[in-house]
Amino acid sequence: MLNDIEKVLITEEELNKRVKELAEILDNDYEGKNPVMVCILKGSIHFFSTLTKEMKIRQVYDFMAVSSYGANTFSSGNVKLIKDLSINIEGRHVVLVEDIVDSGHTLNYLIEMLKVRKPASIEVCTLLDKKCRRVVPLKAKYVGFDIDDYFVLGYGLDYDEYYRNLPFIGILKEEVYKK
Ligand code: PRP
Repeated sequence: MLNDIEKVLITEEELNKRVKELAEILDNDYEGKNPVMVCILKGSIHFFSTLTKEMKIRQVYDFMAVSSYGANTFSSGNVKLIKDLSINIEGRHVVLVEDIVDSGHTLNYLIEMLKVRKPASIEVCTLLDKKCRRVVPLKAKYVGFDIDDYFVLGYGLDYDEYYRNLPFIGILKEEVYKK
């Protein structure tokens, strides 16, 4: 698996440090608000787990699953809801926790869908932000790292469902996805 990696873009140590910082910011912003922390499966699994464990405030978890990439390295824009929330978010403060914002299609779709349920607020916390690839105007309030247009994976992010278990964010060798 490691042979397929061109280079490590963000080390495990850098990830842990930044995720702790984000947890502190969220603790301050959501103190007394008992937010609903939403893990957008599958990519945000490790980020969500570390982030929420580092947070000190009262919160609840929920999970959603969407998919738009399939085995491609680009978003089709055709977002499919695989699993919806199980909690009623009316009047609640919602934080959507994502691994990466790329075209913005996925979060745009989710936010539009969830707004109808009248949450008190809805914000995005993403580990990675690839602003250069944005197709729809989507702004994440909380961002771990801004990155350039590399095909990244690891720490939850996949290529064709593999590599999610790498503990760092790496760049995939071109020959692997151009096969
Ligand atoms: C990835 C990622 C985001 C989305 C971002 O999910 O987790 O949800 O793509 O891309 P966008 O901004 O262009 O919409 P994916 O569909 O690959 O599913 P996964 O999280 O299960 O890997």
